[in-house]
Amino acid sequence: IGGVTVARNDVVRDDDPTNNVPDSIFSKLGMQLHRRDKHPIGIIKNAIYDYFESTYAKKFETFEDLSPIVTTKQNFDDVLVPADHVSRSLNDTYYVDSQTVLRCHTSAHQAELLREGHRRFLVTGDVYRRDSIDSTHYPVFHQMEGFCVFSPEDWNESGKDSTLYAAEDLKKCLEGLARHLFGAVEMRWVDTYFPFTEPSFELEIYFKEDWLEVLGCGVTEQRILKQSGLENNVAWAFGLGLERLAMVLFDIPDIRLFWSDDERFTSQFGKGELGVKFKPFSKYPPCYKDISFWISESFTENNFCEVVRGIAGDLVEEVKLIDSFTNKKGMTSHCYRIVFRSMERSLTDEEVNDLQSKVRDEVQRKLNVELR
Ligand code: PHE
Repeated sequence: IGGVTVARNDVVRDDDPTNNVPDSIFSKLGMQLHRRDKHPIGIIKNAIYDYFESTYAKKFETFEDLSPIVTTKQNFDDVLVPADHVSRSLNDTYYVDSQTVLRCHTSAHQAELLREGHRRFLVTGDVYRRDSIDSTHYPVFHQMEGFCVFSPEDWNESGKDSTLYAAEDLKKCLEGLARHLFGAVEMRWVDTYFPFTEPSFELEIYFKEDWLEVLGCGVTEQRILKQSGLENNVAWAFGLGLERLAMVLFDIPDIRLFWSDDERFTSQFGKGELGVKFKPFSKYPPCYKDISFWISESFTENNFCEVVRGIAGDLVEEVKLIDSFTNKKGMTSHCYRIVFRSMERSLTDEEVNDLQSKVRDEVQRKLNVELR
């Protein structure tokens, strides 16, 4: 880590039944797009740093090379994720072994940093989630966590209750950040739930005729502060999705582009240049292939998507369930449409047929389904 790639054999015991990290994901560890000043993710990170520096007299410490390989305690227990929460499942999270995961959020570092005595900080890094495939979802993306602890002096003179004080300060901070990044933009707050904050909110930004969730945040649960002897304090926290922000800011249509080495992508961005609109260079045609199969009980869409991604890599643009039915015998059939499209060149029929036939073989072999 730290610009150095990680070898699978250094971290995974081959016979570990819990390990569900494919090589395609391992190859992303250590890439650290957020530390490249001329990459959209790095440009956004620097712009957010600028905002915090110019807005707050009291400094926010920054961390950007904490290892993405963390314990289940860091990723879940320390931030009060319940034992039966879906995010703990092998379907949602990449497990290196039963006690080690690829962090699924930068919140995994909150507790350790508090314990080390940090009180105001920003943590940026790559996070990993098993998920579906479309233009705004990719199994690796980048988050920035913000955390700010207040003392009684802070809210006492405001005359407000501590939780309300923190919630208002948090919203003001993030609205200011959105204006700093976007100027005028349509946004809305949505109430939500996170195990580690109460109350909790999401901020959505209007993008391409839809509301896009760009961050989660809230007032930190008192139990988390108490673990570090901060029972008399109150705090807020947020987690920003850097790809989502960058897509809106630079008009980037597909999340796969962030991983492209194509000069037609990389040369469009420069250090500190926030206002640039990306000029798409790909008008290459999509190619649609359908696949139908009878599923078994263990089937999940995330597993299917991972098989497709494992074979087609970044040539797959979207995987969509287009039909599902259950017959009289109780067997359920799914039909998925796979959209193949390269951002860099035209795909040949032969190439796509070959990918699709590999997908058919592998789905049958790995997922215990019956092709139709
Ligand atoms: N960790 C949350 C997520 O990844 C975001 C978040 C961070 C929410 C901090 C509240 C506080 O979705």
